[in-house]
Amino acid sequence: MVQSRPSHLLALTLTLTLISSFFLGSRAQLSSTFYDSTCSNVSTIVRNIVQQAQSSDPRIVASLTRLHFHDCFVNGCDGSLLLDDSSSIQSEKGAAPNNNSARGFDVVDNIKTAVESACPGVVSCADILALAAEASVNLAGGPTWTVLLGRRDGTTASFSGANNLPSPRDPVSTLRSKFSNVGLSDTDLVTLSGAHTFGRAKCAFFSDRLYNFNNSGSPDPSLNTTYLATLQQNCPQGGSGDTLNNLDPSSPDTFDKNYYTNLQTNRGLLQSDQELTSDSSLASTVNSFASSQSTFFQNFGSSMVNMGNISPLTGSNGQIRSNCRKVNGS
Ligand code: HEM
Ligand SMILES: *[C@@H]1O[C@H](CO)[C@@H](O)[C@H](O)[C@H]1NC(C)=O
Ligand SMILES: *[C@@H]1O[C@H](CO)[C@@H](O)[C@H](O)[C@H]1NC(C)=O
Ligand SMILES: *[C@@H]1O[C@H](CO)[C@@H](O)[C@H](O)[C@H]1NC(C)=O
Ligand SMILES: *[C@@H]1O[C@H](CO)[C@@H](O)[C@H](O)[C@H]1NC(C)=O
Repeated sequence: MVQSRPSHLLALTLTLTLISSFFLGSRAQLSSTFYDSTCSNVSTIVRNIVQQAQSSDPRIVASLTRLHFHDCFVNGCDGSLLLDDSSSIQSEKGAAPNNNSARGFDVVDNIKTAVESACPGVVSCADILALAAEASVNLAGGPTWTVLLGRRDGTTASFSGANNLPSPRDPVSTLRSKFSNVGLSDTDLVTLSGAHTFGRAKCAFFSDRLYNFNNSGSPDPSLNTTYLATLQQNCPQGGSGDTLNNLDPSSPDTFDKNYYTNLQTNRGLLQSDQELTSDSSLASTVNSFASSQSTFFQNFGSSMVNMGNISPLTGSNGQIRSNCRKVNGS
């Protein structure tokens, strides 16, 4: 009897450990090894298709990175952005921040087709966006990081949620609260904005800064005057709002720290970019990244993991869509 007590205790401890790990495991826990036994090659497949797309369209890596952001900020990282209009879905693609702006959906389809052919019914569209973002950043010269996986796809979209994405005209206080609402910090805000080191923006998203900032009848006084003149040439008053501009004038297609050095010389393209230097605490993070690319790169990987952790569906919630544009069976 005396001898059997330690083994009873041991059994009890083991049982409690198993029970608690079961409950922790059923909470929103993603893992770097999620597909190791079911689709071990998934990240290679994703990367190869992104690389192939990049060879004919250098901008695509920026576009794909943005898709993960616009997915995660609306109903969590659940692939909701990818759903097309249907009788039961008002697609997020039509919301103001995405309409004629979000792009790369055809590349996501190509990735999904390749992944389905290697491992049918296993990899979610939400995880494809997370993997494509990492591959994209790295293929543009940026850091690599360990992508956490195991998200499942949602069965609904939120048009109103997509309309409430951070706006280039939001004051910095609103940007901060939109990030903190999804569990992201001020440091995440400054770090993730660094994704504007590549890609393009339409004149429509910033031309008020060139001519009539805040209804003042004058340009935004925080814009570098040399840069202002260049932008006014590319975006003439009354011209097409669809004309594209490089977000990073110094190295448009390379993922580097130049976004932050541009901010230091008042060459942030969007109001939401330049505003990051208007607050002393955010500005100190800007300055630290401007002076060390490796510090920026390290932070970027961890902030992308933080963003990728926004309310994922896991376990038996949601589904693995067979077509990223449609809920299964619809
Ligand atoms: C902080 C709040 C943010 C605002 C207000 C914002 C706003 C914008 C706007 C207005 C554009 C131009 C879209 C167009 O002209 O079609 C853009 C482009 C882009 N954004 Fe953001 N963004 C923010 C944060 C982020 C984050 C967190 C990421 C990714 C981690 C990101 C990645 C990108 C990329 C890569 C592009 C270029 C896309 C392309 O060329 O197709 N942005 N953003
Ligand atoms: C992984 O995929 C790539 C092509 O996408 C292929 O070259 C390679 O052989 C694959 N490896 C395995 C183990 O399937
Ligand atoms: C998206 O933009 C097009 C114009 O290119 C417009 O016809 C359409 O109504 C817009 N979609 C929504 C949902 O506003
Ligand atoms: C815009 O103008 C209003 C006054 O009309 C002022 O209170 C506000 O601070 C201005 N905002 C910016 C970003 O300059
Ligand atoms: C404006 O940008 C140029 C680089 O194009 C830079 O040399 C200059 O210092 C900037 N001016 C200000 C006030 O930031």
